[in-house]
Amino acid sequence: MFFGRTGAEACRFFNLDLADWSGASLLDCPGGPGSLAPLARRSGLKVLAVDPLYALEPKDLERRCREDIAFTIEQLRQSSTVRSDFNLEPYHQEKLEALEAFLADRQAHPESYRPGALPELPLADDSFDLVLSGHLLFVYAPLADGGLHEVDCFDLAWHRRALAELLRVCRRELRIFPAYTITMPARVHPYVAPLIADLPAGWQASLEPTSYDQGAMGETPMLRIRWIGPNPEPPESSQLLPAQE
Ligand SMILES: C[S@@+](CC[C@H](N)C(=O)[O-])C[C@H]1O[C@@H](n2cnc3c(N)ncnc32)[C@H](O)[C@@H]1O
Repeated sequence: MFFGRTGAEACRFFNLDLADWSGASLLDCPGGPGSLAPLARRSGLKVLAVDPLYALEPKDLERRCREDIAFTIEQLRQSSTVRSDFNLEPYHQEKLEALEAFLADRQAHPESYRPGALPELPLADDSFDLVLSGHLLFVYAPLADGGLHEVDCFDLAWHRRALAELLRVCRRELRIFPAYTITMPARVHPYVAPLIADLPAGWQASLEPTSYDQGAMGETPMLRIRWIGPNPEPPESSQLLPAQE
């Protein structure tokens, strides 16, 4: 689905304060028709958004996106994956707003958008301080594994390759949202534990709650993976003790 969130929504689900990353390089993959890139650029980040559909002509891209927004919102209206008290109308409006900002920014800054697809990105090793990946991993896992896909092209093996690729191009930190199942009640996605268990040396993972609400119910964390170095210093013994009153 070529369906994107606003930059403000992305900051909420990535627990991201862009001011903390001013001057840093950012990869948003998949960028989709979202408006994180213009917001991040205004906050002083050097940003690249990558998505396979950026290979389409602008007119086709816009048509595809409007169709996908309409289709997705209709699916969500009928879906058991959204709480009955969740108001879809503001959610819908935000997607249209994201699309308008994306179309304008892509025209003004074509260098910030590049076609490419996981698990093989056309990018050099260690090229970004911060890598963000929203609504692809875990979401498009097979239905049987708590994702949306009826076929199993985005299975655990694919996720291992995609994660390795995102880490290959990342220097400091990778954040992935959502890290939970789409089937309700949401729970930490079953691929998260095996992926964390196999992280290369030097990377440390944590699951964090976020304030973003897209109608799910249950456990809805974001996965954060930080580079801590190949031989992190052991904490000083005083840091292991509870603070003295
Ligand atoms: C639901 S959108 C998410 C967009 C945005 N990151 C967000 O959070 O709203 C999923 C995006 O994944 C892209 N996509 C599909 N297959 C992909 C792949 N193999 N590698 C990278 N992106 C892919 C689609 O083109 C689509 O734009």
